[in-house]
Amino acid sequence: MSVQPAPPRAAVPSTTVFKDDLFKGKVLFCTGGHSGICKEMTRALMKHGADAYIVGRKLEKGLTAARELSAATGRKCFFSQVDVRKPDTLKEAVNKCIAEFGRIDYVIAGAAGNFLAPISRISENAFKTVIDIDILGSYNTLKATLPYIRETRGSILFVSATLHFRGLQYQSHVSAAKAGIDALNAVVAVEEGPRGIRSNIISPGPIAGTEGVDRLTPKGQMDKANRIVPLQRLGQFGDVTNATIFLFSEAANWVTGQIFVVDGGEHHTTTSL
Ligand code: HXC
Repeated sequence: MSVQPAPPRAAVPSTTVFKDDLFKGKVLFCTGGHSGICKEMTRALMKHGADAYIVGRKLEKGLTAARELSAATGRKCFFSQVDVRKPDTLKEAVNKCIAEFGRIDYVIAGAAGNFLAPISRISENAFKTVIDIDILGSYNTLKATLPYIRETRGSILFVSATLHFRGLQYQSHVSAAKAGIDALNAVVAVEEGPRGIRSNIISPGPIAGTEGVDRLTPKGQMDKANRIVPLQRLGQFGDVTNATIFLFSEAANWVTGQIFVVDGGEHHTTTSL
């Protein structure tokens, strides 16, 4: 049965839905916050009043991102060069964040590695590299920030994906890593729930303008990529950031251990490019 599609629903600015000062006085610690989706998630929390500490591997890019986010939102944002595979560099950054702000309320574990490689050709070290960045990095981030979010009864958001719900070619390493993060989240929710901590996953589907979509969409197929999504368009950063605001807000006070998919229904469809 073919259906004449309705015009796609637009992504709306967060300020039309959420209070401007929703996160006033709160502090976000975000890994991978200097680029891509995590940078936009950071911007969204800052736009609603939070200060932020972002970490990543690229020094210049990170310093520039922190300056840009501060200028755009009027909130404070600092950057430290960190490799999430190295717990000591993470702990050092967390200490600096505490010295600066005195607290951490929200954590985004977003640093991730990705490249396309068939199973038969990916090296052991390449596979391990992505597992280490994604799973070990998420664990290290949690361990370094946990004492502080226990104090604030805070909340953590791990960034996962939808590609591992099915088998996506050339993504064995990323799929295994994201499945591990999904599993880690459930345990954090159960163990830390009694202390008032909430732990959730945000799983973006195909988001326009990201490296993932650019790499996986063949040239000239963007229109088709839009039409495959049940809601008739690729995602925008705003779709993910609005969900992020909800999950960190008190509106989600009884939401923990969840995999919150933001993909316009894409992972449910059997149609593919
Ligand atoms: C095959 C590769 C490779 C590639 C690296 N390797 N790039 N193998 N294809 N394109 C191999 C190397 O040869 C080496 O194995 C091992 O991986 C480690 O490489 P290094 O460069 O030494 O590691 P490192 O400097 O730690 O960087 C690892 C990296 C990183 C994962 C490649 O540079 C990276 O993450 N880049 C992309 C970042 C990114 O796209 N982030 C967004 C993620 S989005 P050998 O055997 O030679 O020693 C996301 C959501 C999913 O995750 C999106 C859907 C697609």
